[in-house]
Amino acid sequence: MPLFAILTLFPDALAPYLEESILGSARQRGLVEVLLIDFRDFARDRHRTVDDRPFGGGPGMVLKPEPIADCVDWLEARYGAFRRFALCPGGRPFRQELAAELARDMSTPERGRTLLLAGRYEGFDERLRAELALEELSLGDFVLSGGELAALAVVEAVTRLLPGALGDDRSALQDSFSDPALLDCPHYTRPRVWRGREVPPVLLSGDHQKIEVWRREQARDRTRARRPDLARAPHTEPGPTYRPPSAAPTDASPASPTQTRSPQDEPRPAHEPCT
Ligand SMILES: C[S@@+](CC[C@H](N)C(=O)[O-])C[C@H]1O[C@@H](n2cnc3c(N)ncnc32)[C@H](O)[C@@H]1O
Repeated sequence: MPLFAILTLFPDALAPYLEESILGSARQRGLVEVLLIDFRDFARDRHRTVDDRPFGGGPGMVLKPEPIADCVDWLEARYGAFRRFALCPGGRPFRQELAAELARDMSTPERGRTLLLAGRYEGFDERLRAELALEELSLGDFVLSGGELAALAVVEAVTRLLPGALGDDRSALQDSFSDPALLDCPHYTRPRVWRGREVPPVLLSGDHQKIEVWRREQARDRTRARRPDLARAPHTEPGPTYRPPSAAPTDASPASPTQTRSPQDEPRPAHEPCT
């Protein structure tokens, strides 16, 4: 099954979110698994140190390379190779296209594993990027205190595109960015009139063709008004370009994670560094 590993100093902050809603249900139903791994467990000294002062001086601390690299070695020895990402403000912006690519890839046995390294402090030692062939991902042009929220965002965006994760797989097809050049259309539900505001009459007409045309026009108008950077001209291909992977997810981990929920349930790494 598709497997995410989030390397973080704060696994307990993430665990509750993974229990809820679509993510919780997808995990329970065996559509995806998420390991939360505290790389402090791989620190080499008795104080479990994972950070140190920056060479050259200046404020803040830097994450040391050894615990993170040892953690990745341990993880891959156990589960096999992962596609490795580090969350960084300066990374490639995380977009729906990549979420879709990961959902497709992770539905195949060869590419079913994705690693997400959540930084803290000033970030991690630069040498890790090349040593671990890390791809850098950014959640946006702002700075968080850690990569945990960004990692959760990636896990959620990908998981909801896995076949069977949503109540109706077609929901993802009408979402914003499933066609990279379109936002979603507006949605309404009961009551028909609320505080004097009426639902657009076309949606009550029962004419599905008309409704479809209206929705497409609304989506285009909305995109032009709110995100002119997205709209391509001319927009020739109405409807989403993204199609969810059709194959049912397969067990992608040769080491068979046996429903591992988190590293807390797992034996400590063989070198048991924290004594
Ligand atoms: C305080 S930030 C470090 C910021 C770093 N000194 C810089 O300016 O690029 C600590 C960690 O939060 C995470 N982070 C912060 N903002 C992020 C963003 N926009 N996208 C992804 N991760 C982010 C990264 O993992 C980063 O290592």
